[in-house]
Amino acid sequence: MKKGRLGEILDSFKNLKVAVVGDMMLDDYLIGNVDRISPEAPVPVVSVKEERFVLGGAANVVNNLSTLGATTFCFGVIGDDFDGDRLIREFEKKSIETMGVVRSTSRPTIVKRRIIGGNQQLLRLDWEDSRAISEDLEKSLLKHIEAKIKELDAIILSDYDKGVLTPNVVKRIISLCKENNIIVTVDPKPKNAMNYIGATSMTPNRKEAIECLGKTNFDSIIEIGQELKEKLQLDNLLLTRSEEGMSLFQGEEIINIPTYAKEVFDVTGAGDTVISVFTMALASGVKIEEAAKIANTAAGVVVGKMGTSIVTKDEIIEFYNTIYKD
Ligand SMILES: Nc1ncnc2c1ncn2[C@@H]1O[C@H](COP(=O)(O)OP(=O)(O)OP(=O)(O)O)[C@@H](O)[C@H]1O
Ligand SMILES: [Mg+2]
Repeated sequence: MKKGRLGEILDSFKNLKVAVVGDMMLDDYLIGNVDRISPEAPVPVVSVKEERFVLGGAANVVNNLSTLGATTFCFGVIGDDFDGDRLIREFEKKSIETMGVVRSTSRPTIVKRRIIGGNQQLLRLDWEDSRAISEDLEKSLLKHIEAKIKELDAIILSDYDKGVLTPNVVKRIISLCKENNIIVTVDPKPKNAMNYIGATSMTPNRKEAIECLGKTNFDSIIEIGQELKEKLQLDNLLLTRSEEGMSLFQGEEIINIPTYAKEVFDVTGAGDTVISVFTMALASGVKIEEAAKIANTAAGVVVGKMGTSIVTKDEIIEFYNTIYKD
């Protein structure tokens, strides 16, 4: 890639309109000090100094897209509760469009609330109902997506298996994308694999790719990738391989891209960064191999950062230039 080209590609992300459909979550951190043990029970008393909200699950994909400049739309189902209001507020702070977030009185907003005393996580409290959403919720979610589809450049299906991406929802979105010539990429959950037939691309990790095929015996991960791409009739497949980087399957070709991450601190969310950057690069018309390399670079940055799973344009450029010295 010529000098300056990566900057142009990343700049062009701001012209994109990308939607994420999936399981939006709120991560909540209650942070404080512990000075004493409770008189009520043998547990520490945390004197809370700060509460921090972080976008999680599919909402972390939204955050990645928006941080890199794309106009981002989110579609999902959250509760009609206080945590749902907080989640919406976090989206709005980042100018993320939330018209497509359906509020339900029959399910809670998915929240993972941590209590941190000193430097230690003492407890995590989870709220979630991961049953499939009702037919009514499916319909209203799809109505929002249908109303927006013509404006979009790409849709990402971020499946955490928490009930939003039902077979009906996924199949309808993929066929809408095909009709409208829109890229649709999937971060999959293996048990739902057969729903994703006909998507543009998928970004499973090693374990997910193997489980998508229901295999326990296989010769190589390469064989798995090829078979999965064929079986689900994908245009291409980007198999992420943690410390081994990633493998891109396109036509008959397989391109292995090693990771260049030097220091690895926190690998959570790397998969979200991969699908976000890869999808935006594809939607910008970048060649697939280049899109994968940029996504791999972004993931290499994110695993080196503690406590956050987003990357900026400048961080990607700086790291790319240290790896690919043309
Ligand atoms: N230990 C590591 N060392 C170097 N790079 C890594 C490591 N783990 C992840 N990466 C980078 O992040 C990318 C995605 O990681 P991985 O294959 O673990 O996805 P994942 O399991 O979907 O992640 P997530 O935990 O976000 O769901 C890899 O392709 C690689 O570029
Ligand atoms: Mg993942």
